[in-house]
Amino acid sequence: MISATYPGSIAQSFEQNFGRKPALVVRAPGHINLLGEHTDYNEGWVLPAAIDRAIWLAVAPRTDAALHLVAHDLGEKYTGSLHQLEKSGRGWPDYLLGVFHVLQQENLPVAGMDVVFGGDIPIGAGLSSSAALEGGMLFAINELHGFGLERPQLARLAQRAENEFVGMKCGIMDMYASLMGRAGHFLRLDCRTLATEYAPFDAPDWAFVLCDSGVKHALVDSEYNQRRRECEAGVAILRRFFPEIRSLRDVSEAMLDEAGDALPKLIRARCRYVVAENGRVEKMCIALKNNDLQTIGQLMFDTHEGLRTGYEVSCAEMDFLVETARRDPAVQGARMMGGGFGGCTLNLVRRADEAHFKSRMQQAFRQKWARELACFSVQLSDGTGLCP
Ligand code: GLA
Repeated sequence: MISATYPGSIAQSFEQNFGRKPALVVRAPGHINLLGEHTDYNEGWVLPAAIDRAIWLAVAPRTDAALHLVAHDLGEKYTGSLHQLEKSGRGWPDYLLGVFHVLQQENLPVAGMDVVFGGDIPIGAGLSSSAALEGGMLFAINELHGFGLERPQLARLAQRAENEFVGMKCGIMDMYASLMGRAGHFLRLDCRTLATEYAPFDAPDWAFVLCDSGVKHALVDSEYNQRRRECEAGVAILRRFFPEIRSLRDVSEAMLDEAGDALPKLIRARCRYVVAENGRVEKMCIALKNNDLQTIGQLMFDTHEGLRTGYEVSCAEMDFLVETARRDPAVQGARMMGGGFGGCTLNLVRRADEAHFKSRMQQAFRQKWARELACFSVQLSDGTGLCP
């Protein structure tokens, strides 16, 4: 897929499908996350950025209540009605239907809609094409109907669409990063208050490269929701000792020690990972400020270790990719990224050696797993916006 064809191909597909021009076209980017994994739903901190891979949505309102949705890249269509919003069970339509569902719940009057979308975010690679789709659809409707909702409100609504309609209990990071990204910056988001600071990434000699393990774990949703429950169970126990805490965000290593055996071993390991990860985000912000590449890289490796052993959401292929990267002279840091059980690793790579790094990784992967590894570099880009 070549992004140069976007958004033209999506606008063109809209005209072919509906015999008129779209009222507007929106670009909604995917994201990477430098650090702060599985901290968002624990009201902690994350450090994501929007990237130069996106979904484009061409949209126009209708005069009736019908919804005509087209997934251009998949060559699939869905037709439904605002009067009967139910899960389609077909995957992608549910992300869009969920958006209409939450807007109805908010009593915001939405028209029927013709929609065509497509883009170059690899699906199932943990770059959150789903969040881009939800956030982009909300952004488009907000523009068309002049609701005047702010971007953080759109992010909350997108999260609700996914939590309440799709049934994935994700945190707010993915949609927030997609909507709020700024070129050349990571955003440090406090997931309790939504306070946001932008941290410039100012290292032109270094590149972020994603290696897609190609593993799409069928259990990701159930395991993810299970981790959430384990964290909540930890908080419930800790509250017996520290009634003032609301989430793992309020917990320190010392508090975990004090609770001792009251926390079952598995629950303690989950809690310990989250508490340590929040601490790492703090350190990462300082390292970014100081342009301290060595610490940035080390923190990425440390997070991978925590996700592998304490939170147990990695998999053999991603562990292999991180270990291979660790031995590579061009690499400063590497870790699995996203919910886990598959998806991409994020690698901080010396720019001059980027191409060689990719071919070394591909060769090693082929040798071990007898299949191809997709590697691609990403730039930190602006968040969701209208296309001219
Ligand atoms: C998924 C979720 C996010 C976040 C990450 C883990 O990508 O969608 O909200 O919880 O997992 O950090």
